Amino acid sequence: MTNHMALPLYVIVLAAGKGTRMKSETPKVLHRIGEKPMLGHVLDNIQQLNAKKVFVVCGHGADQLKAWVAKDAREVEWVEQLEQLGTGHAVGMCLPVLKEVAGDLNSKVLIVSGDVPLTTAETLRLFSANRSEFGLLTLQIANPAGYGRILRDESGVVCGVVEEKDATELQRAICEVNTNVMCVDLQLLDQLLPLIQNNNAQGEYYLPDLIGLARQAGKQIAALKVDRAWEVQGVNDRVQLQELERVYQKNRADECMRDGLWLRDANRIDLRGEFEFGLDCECDINVIIEGKVQLGNNVYIGPNVRLKNVKIGDGTRVLGFCDIDGAVFGPDCQVGPYARVRPGTELVSGAKLGNFVETKNAKLGPGAKVNHLSYAGDCELGRAANVGAGTIFCNFDGVRKNYTKIGEGAFIGSNTCLVAPLEIGSGVIIGAGSTITKNVPDNALAVARTKARVIEDWHPSPK
Ligand code: UD1
Ligand code: CA
Repeated sequence: MTNHMALPLYVIVLAAGKGTRMKSETPKVLHRIGEKPMLGHVLDNIQQLNAKKVFVVCGHGADQLKAWVAKDAREVEWVEQLEQLGTGHAVGMCLPVLKEVAGDLNSKVLIVSGDVPLTTAETLRLFSANRSEFGLLTLQIANPAGYGRILRDESGVVCGVVEEKDATELQRAICEVNTNVMCVDLQLLDQLLPLIQNNNAQGEYYLPDLIGLARQAGKQIAALKVDRAWEVQGVNDRVQLQELERVYQKNRADECMRDGLWLRDANRIDLRGEFEFGLDCECDINVIIEGKVQLGNNVYIGPNVRLKNVKIGDGTRVLGFCDIDGAVFGPDCQVGPYARVRPGTELVSGAKLGNFVETKNAKLGPGAKVNHLSYAGDCELGRAANVGAGTIFCNFDGVRKNYTKIGEGAFIGSNTCLVAPLEIGSGVIIGAGSTITKNVPDNALAVARTKARVIEDWHPSPK
């Protein structure tokens, strides 16, 4: 007996279909789960198998697929299927190239679909390490609609698959379905694939016909029932995509909790990027994580907050309803509620950004504060500087962006316009309601507003 463990492994990913049922211009396998295309999930999981090569069959939207894969620096061998004549035909397109690369027929071929995104690397590894000549993953499912049904003979041995469109009413009632995840000896695949016919309801070359053919050739199908349905659920429409999105999110949320994150509701967090956190961090409901987010220890994220590419230091609190993109917060800062923090915002320890404050390319020194209703763009605030409510950093003169520097301990009165470029010294006080267009030296008071006039008895007195 040959030791199949030792056989080299090749992988074929089927991804040429249009995905008509998605009703979309985006090829199906580029539709996203957790912001990553389904094809990306599949390739990431396969990557852990140490396969000799991964072949991806492309057709519809091939350029889009290639562009995305290239951008992510993954290595795959593309095989074009110009006409989508069925899944069997798709594998057939790979075979000559695969055989050439392999050199001989002593290898195993794992076949997966680009629209079955959540099969874990662990399951694929176990499955492809199986010694049988023909392995198949099957699934017991309450609603088998749309899937090919597994046929078993009187003794319970798998003897074929019938597609829904070709199935009799009795066969449609079968709840064990084909996942199309197969692992077949190249030798056997090469022998059986040419035998697949297209005389069926869809006029297509069905890959699952291999199963019946293998059985007829006297081969045993090692059918492995998958326990966790989501691992092999396919996506044909947006309802199924959404279902798997929720599964994926719940899985990631559970993983975070096991790693020590406290989630007020594991069903109300969306992880669409990389997420790292220290000890005793907490997320309230409806937090969205995008890009790369890192939290230190004891960080609190309030409800309805989006964090994208953010690094947050120990003990910092982000209160509810903030939108934060491209920022670094030091320890013990407080942000929000309702802050809009744009790229280039940097808070040193103990700084505060309050409600209805927008920042962009703004650096706040230790303990500096912009607490209410302000816009702070292209600026730097020294230690403990305090910017009053309604202050606008007028950074744009219509042509270019200009910078404002505020010294330590400066106090900017409410409703001030700081017209950049501008330097405000340390210890400066700006009177409320000022429009400042000139630099102010250390410890000065600057006021720029019209003096109030009080005219008595203005209102005509009643007769
Ligand atoms: C397929 C199986 C079905 C199984 C189900 C599991 C067939 C005929 N049926 O049905 O038994 O229960 O998967 O999810 O295989 N593709 C190509 N080239 C083609 C046709 C399809 O690359 O010519 C690709 C698609 O892009 C897709 C995958 O193969 O990624 C599956 O095709 P799809 O049309 O979705 O098959 P199902 O109807 O889901
Ligand atoms: Ca499918």
